[in-house]
Amino acid sequence: MRIVKVKNYEQLSQMATDIIAGRIRQKQDLVLGLSAGSTPILTYQLLAQEHQQTGLDFSKTKTFNLDEYYGLSPTHSQSYRYFMEKHFFSKINLKKENIHFLNGLIKNPSKECQKYEQEIKKAGGVDLQILGIGHNGHIGFNEPGSSFNSKTRVVKLDRQTIITNSRNFKAAERIPQKALTIGIQTIMSAKEIILLAGKNKKRIISKVLKSEITSDIPATVLKKHPNCTIIVEMN
Ligand code: GLP
Repeated sequence: MRIVKVKNYEQLSQMATDIIAGRIRQKQDLVLGLSAGSTPILTYQLLAQEHQQTGLDFSKTKTFNLDEYYGLSPTHSQSYRYFMEKHFFSKINLKKENIHFLNGLIKNPSKECQKYEQEIKKAGGVDLQILGIGHNGHIGFNEPGSSFNSKTRVVKLDRQTIITNSRNFKAAERIPQKALTIGIQTIMSAKEIILLAGKNKKRIISKVLKSEITSDIPATVLKKHPNCTIIVEMN
């Protein structure tokens, strides 16, 4: 696991953009694993700028998003699908059929999750996975205690995650208590991983670095990955 320390959010986002754009230029049909959350917003903006200004071409790129709230429709303003449309998909030339997302409204979630795993396999696996990190060390919605062998599934959200993420919901809205997420094993099978951590994540990142590999801090599993970079804002 490589750690790259950057001075500010702009540098973090530029570095992530350069890596992602570079991989797409090397392999047009790149399979890209994407994350919602506030941290990658500027990266998505910069990638969209690359598309508009230099013609960075997403027409063959396939994307798989990490997670989605269970119970939210794709058009709900707090759904991750809505977030990705707003910040990224609507600004680039990704083909609709190449966008893969877990459906938060699905009646039979375990079937949906199995289907997602199969779709990832069929696409040849994820080439580059973008991750964020929760204050409790979660990756995707793999909360502390998640098995390292876990695959895509429905999970109950941690209390801390519900509290943290509730800032995005209106007061009267019911905050989802469950989510669909790709598993830790699924994340680890990506060929390359980049985890983005803003300065608000300094504490959990130093905990990850100091700690042994443990399911109590899910992100520690990344130490076992052969090609994982953590870009962390440290100023
Ligand atoms: C959320 C998502 C994660 C994301 C993380 C960090 O709960 N499930 O995929 O990486 O929290 O989000 P943020 O970047 O907003 O801090």
